[in-house]
Amino acid sequence: MNDRSCRPDIVKTPDIAPYDVIFVGFPVWWYREPSIIDTFLESADFTGKTLVPFCTSGGSNLGESTDNFRTLAPGAKVLDGRRLTHRDDDAALRAWILSIR
Ligand SMILES: Cc1cc2nc3c(=O)[nH]c(=O)nc-3n(C[C@H](O)[C@H](O)[C@H](O)COP(=O)(O)O)c2cc1C
Repeated sequence: MNDRSCRPDIVKTPDIAPYDVIFVGFPVWWYREPSIIDTFLESADFTGKTLVPFCTSGGSNLGESTDNFRTLAPGAKVLDGRRLTHRDDDAALRAWILSIR
């Protein structure tokens, strides 16, 4: 995480082609997305896709993550994203997801 150019390998990179809206979830590490998420964002051309960052954390919010998504996937529409907690029950998650469509 100290080396911003670090790109850990992904064992099997997902094929994003069939999807228009892609939710990308991760634990916040040092106020941003883990480096393997950066590997994913650079693994494909997200032009025309919508990316929805979401995270868990020990308490901090998404931090730099959303800005980093916009830098690493410049063709995508990157939504502001959301931190999920144990207080987000099924109804809250459903309402959030439906608000995105
Ligand atoms: C290396 C590392 C860095 C972390 N950095 C942060 C951080 O900057 N802010 C934060 O709120 N939590 C941080 N955490 C906590 C994780 O985000 C948290 O453990 C993760 O989201 C999983 O949450 P859970 O244990 O409640 O499932 C960090 C955890 C690790 C292992």
